[in-house]
Amino acid sequence: MRFFIDSADVKEIRAANDMGCVDGVTTNPSLLAKTGRPMKEAILEICSIVDGPISAECVTLTADEMIAEGQGLAAWHKNIVVKIPMGVEGMKAVKALTAKGIKTNVTLCFSPNQALLAAKAGATYISPFVGRLDDIGQDGLKMVREICQIYKNYGYATQVLVASVRNPIHLLESALMGAHVATLPLSVIQQLAQHPLTDSGIKKFLADWEKVPKAK
Ligand code: G3P
Repeated sequence: MRFFIDSADVKEIRAANDMGCVDGVTTNPSLLAKTGRPMKEAILEICSIVDGPISAECVTLTADEMIAEGQGLAAWHKNIVVKIPMGVEGMKAVKALTAKGIKTNVTLCFSPNQALLAAKAGATYISPFVGRLDDIGQDGLKMVREICQIYKNYGYATQVLVASVRNPIHLLESALMGAHVATLPLSVIQQLAQHPLTDSGIKKFLADWEKVPKAK
């Protein structure tokens, strides 16, 4: 399973990258706004840190605008993946950008049917938002399970990129379903390393080490 970090903050990206678990990065306008930096400056620095797919999101609404914007974003760096919001205009843009050899990540997916549409349009990645569906009392992981099953049934090449991941259970269940990628906040990546028995085990080993005679 590939891990992307869901952040536009280069400090967070470097911290996760140093752990050796980062295969790519996803950004969105909200994450960029938190950095207070111009988009291009932040994205290019991210590209210099991580050698993998870096999602940069379109902020226009019509297909023609998204196609032009997407081509512009893709020209920034070879690793840019153009993030396109789900919708009729978005699907037209995905079809056109795919035909030009530009990779796309369809974002704001909240149903298996939306994911099916994105695969048919030729999207490189589909981003089902698990946490936001849970937030409104629906089952985000059930959506991911159904998308994985549908893509498997028909052999679609579109990769399932699980997004809006809020906790390690979201990740574990997505991995068990065989989702290709998960994009994770730094806090969730750090949580993955934690276990109380690991902490108490280290404490005990260090305490016992004090009792081991040291060579003179
Ligand atoms: O990158 C998109 C997605 O991961 C956002 O997550 O936590 O804002 O729902 P969240």
